[in-house]
Amino acid sequence: MDAVMASDKNGAGAVLAPSWVRHGRLIAWVAEIAALTKPDHVHWCDGSQEEYDAMCAGLVAAGTMTRLNPARRPNSFLALSDPSDVARVEDRTFICSEREEDAGPTNNWVAPAQMRDTLHGLFDGCMRGRTLYVVPFSMGPLGSHIAQIGIELSDSAYVAVNMRIMTRMGKAVHEVLGSSGDFVPCVHSVGLPLAAGQKDVAWPCSATKYIVHYPESREIWSYGSGYGGNALLGKKCFALRIASTMGRDQGWLAEHMLILGVENPQGKKHYVAAAFPSACGKTNFAMLIPPTGFTGWKVTTIGDDIAWIKPGPDGRLYAINPEAGYFGVAPGTSEKTNFNAMATLRENVIFTNVALTDDGDIWWEGMTKEAPAHLIDWQGKDWTPALGKESGRKAAHPNARFTAPASQCPSIDPAWENPAGVPISAFIFGGRRSTTVPLVTHARSWTEGVYMAATMGSETTAAAAGEQGVVRRDPFAMLPFCGYNMSDYFAHWLNVGRRLETTGQKLPGIFCVNWFRTDEQGKFVWPGFGENMRVLKWILERVDGQAGGEDHLFGTTPRYDDMSWEGSSFGRSEFARIASIDIASWKNELVLHNELFTKLQYHLPVELSMVKDQIEKNLH
Ligand code: OXD
Ligand code: MN
Repeated sequence: MDAVMASDKNGAGAVLAPSWVRHGRLIAWVAEIAALTKPDHVHWCDGSQEEYDAMCAGLVAAGTMTRLNPARRPNSFLALSDPSDVARVEDRTFICSEREEDAGPTNNWVAPAQMRDTLHGLFDGCMRGRTLYVVPFSMGPLGSHIAQIGIELSDSAYVAVNMRIMTRMGKAVHEVLGSSGDFVPCVHSVGLPLAAGQKDVAWPCSATKYIVHYPESREIWSYGSGYGGNALLGKKCFALRIASTMGRDQGWLAEHMLILGVENPQGKKHYVAAAFPSACGKTNFAMLIPPTGFTGWKVTTIGDDIAWIKPGPDGRLYAINPEAGYFGVAPGTSEKTNFNAMATLRENVIFTNVALTDDGDIWWEGMTKEAPAHLIDWQGKDWTPALGKESGRKAAHPNARFTAPASQCPSIDPAWENPAGVPISAFIFGGRRSTTVPLVTHARSWTEGVYMAATMGSETTAAAAGEQGVVRRDPFAMLPFCGYNMSDYFAHWLNVGRRLETTGQKLPGIFCVNWFRTDEQGKFVWPGFGENMRVLKWILERVDGQAGGEDHLFGTTPRYDDMSWEGSSFGRSEFARIASIDIASWKNELVLHNELFTKLQYHLPVELSMVKDQIEKNLH
């Protein structure tokens, strides 16, 4: 439903809510934000197909999106962003807690009052000439006790249509919300008001960007970007940064983790949750197809990016995927690397910053061995393999994305919408490390596992703006996503473990993996993708107490014969390369752990320092 902000552009009384919105506080808040931002229209999203179609048609008319050839890619679109707005902006992301130490040394912090002043100035009139979309969404199955509701107010129709894929969005959310339910208020603007008669650009955004979280009042304000996690506020801002603070306060976990199910030929099923930094293959791992030699094994997908995990009354941890879609990295995705993702992308998809083929379909680096003879690249320019080679220009941006409904994934788990969640048997943590870290290590205790996750390092990728390929510490793959002090977050994990232990239940196993070790030529040694099943099988056999291994500096790693190699030509000597623990590299690694712990010394749990001391002793 559209309300025209005609008669009273500055007044808070000008917003007319549809009859299915019964929440007085919500209506008053929308009116307050509309009075501040001064849009021309307010549109209350109902989440219907008709509304989605109309918004997409509007985006095509505005030049933001191109409709793809319906014969090749039904009901799908391509959006090309401004070249300055292509990734999450971590240096413009702020955790504005009352006390600086509660944001901690890994987050940017500004005092909330000061930030509110700055944002008030920026948001004043920032939606002029635009429509304010009221986007109601549920993170998690509607009505699940683990789910949470948010309302995003955005002046971007591109955001509204993406949110409809990525979350449960629409009228049904208002039914759950009723007249007084809790919601997380999220305000988003592209930061480009239009003067009367001013023509819009295809991808409005601003050079000034602020991605702001107030953890105490649980609010999100985002200004200046229309891209991904900067703008789809249910994802990183809510489901990780704000939800992690909710989890800290309420005894649960909001994690940057995929969730998958593994069923063995005897019908025994386990679920695991795995954390990897952005663009390290979480979506591929979540949709893995077992390789030859694994007849009768089934891998199913619950989620590919975020897990909300709560202790159940039985002392086990239960996880849901709060999202309803995949916002995956396109380059590198192919029938070979991720068959299930490619099948998910056959229709009803929004692609962003990939290349356009001459027959109205899409292409990106790695999709096929050979590039098409001619493309329009992500910047709207002609591209040929020769031009690409000559200029080094990629046809698709390295952080190009697809937004696709999770329900379309062939490997989707039957329980993916189970409001109770699925029980987690193991946690896996993985970084992108060309050296040092072995293929897989099993922590001998919860504390040792928390240490492994806390000290994880990874080479940076294109998912965030900034230099790529440098190793940075990325604790729990949460460095850009933890909404509070990282050391308090470690303590929270230790507390969750302690609390579970008191129930007498066996805790989930904690494992650390690294698919990314390279040889002298810089080539990956481990084939990865479906072959990761071999590691997964060892992990689950460890959980069941069935697989062997040998103890190392910290944790236990498999010997070659502890893993299954049926159907594989991966030999002992290659295995030795990626399983080896080199003492000199580990001495160096420990220097980096020390640096991290010095940075995080405020509230750093003493248990973690004790694990570090033990490893240091083992090294000498
Ligand atoms: C993502 C990310 O988009 O981690 O999932 O950057
Ligand atoms: Mn992610």
